[in-house]
Amino acid sequence: MTASALFDHAPDRVSIVEVSPRDGLQNEPTIVPTEGKRQLIDALVAAGVARVEVTSFVSPRWVPQLADADTLAAELRAPAGVSFAALCPNARGLERAHAAGLDEIAVFLSASESHNQKNVNKSVADTLAVFREIVPPARDLGMRVRAYVSTVWGCPYEGEVDPKVALGIAKELVVLGCYQVSLGDTIGCGTPRQTAEILERFAGELARDKVALHFHDTRGTALANALVGLEMGFRDFDASVGGLGGCPYAPGAAGNLATEDLVYMLHGMGIETGIDLDRLIEAGQLAERLVGRPLPGKVHKAGRFTRRTGPT
Ligand code: HMG
Ligand code: MG
Repeated sequence: MTASALFDHAPDRVSIVEVSPRDGLQNEPTIVPTEGKRQLIDALVAAGVARVEVTSFVSPRWVPQLADADTLAAELRAPAGVSFAALCPNARGLERAHAAGLDEIAVFLSASESHNQKNVNKSVADTLAVFREIVPPARDLGMRVRAYVSTVWGCPYEGEVDPKVALGIAKELVVLGCYQVSLGDTIGCGTPRQTAEILERFAGELARDKVALHFHDTRGTALANALVGLEMGFRDFDASVGGLGGCPYAPGAAGNLATEDLVYMLHGMGIETGIDLDRLIEAGQLAERLVGRPLPGKVHKAGRFTRRTGPT
């Protein structure tokens, strides 16, 4: 196979949803003050990130790290062309997100029963019933609704997960009015051939722009899986600056795919993101200071590479 044929189906441009203020900070032992979260979001926007998941309107008892969601979201003003979203599990979450002035929420559930039960204290069927009651009203309020299906590549409690189940849930979420469904490798167990098999199934049933890919990098396979998604024509990826992140209700879930690593690879392949890598690295350095620990992202640590001057 020739080099040009290898990436024949990759898009010219990719849209990244930055999840560090939510997926990242929800799993940090340190509670970052509201002002620090605002600074991180500002730094991400300054780097050109156009979609940011800023917080989560879940129970503060379940996720104390994001208990300041109402204050934080109410203080934020998305500049033109930028959208801020927040995770929302139920009617109370929707009420809070709307009161804070957000115009996008993300509902979430798992493809495996045990993870769903641990994460939201409900069966998958009962969670879908909740979404049937909140997605249409959210749309009526003028909000955009995204959705997550977690544990598509594997479950920390059940092991293997049938991709047919995830596809059935995703299709139902689209019919319900979710503009995009992000498929989660929640515990970062996926490998490239498996990714191709899962995505082939989705590509046959849903338009590419209805599907986003959300990889955690627990076992170092996130970028390889993202590359498979790209080659199959998927254009929407979630990532977290510095590789911050995890899921508090999925033991072993480490950080998301680091945004800098994804952007570095995409730009190197001539694929646009609208993001300035140098400023993104600065945002990652800020994230590191805020959580007070080194972050695992590779480009975050190494810096970018310029062919003329060598590593910076
Ligand atoms: P529950 O205890 O079953 O809720 O929790 P409940 O309806 O029985 O209510 C209990 C209490 O919580 C009540 O208060 C409610 O008002 C309150 P009380 O009357 O006892 O004082 N409550 C709320 N308070 C604030 N905001 C709310 C809310 N809802 C109820 N929205 C619930 C159910 C879903 C709330 C809980 O299980 C929860 O908050 N879970 C969230 C867990 C979570 O955030 N996990 C991480 C995000 S998912 C993820 O990371 C995966 C992802 O990244 C994709 C991937 O990687 O695969 C998205
Ligand atoms: Mg996640």
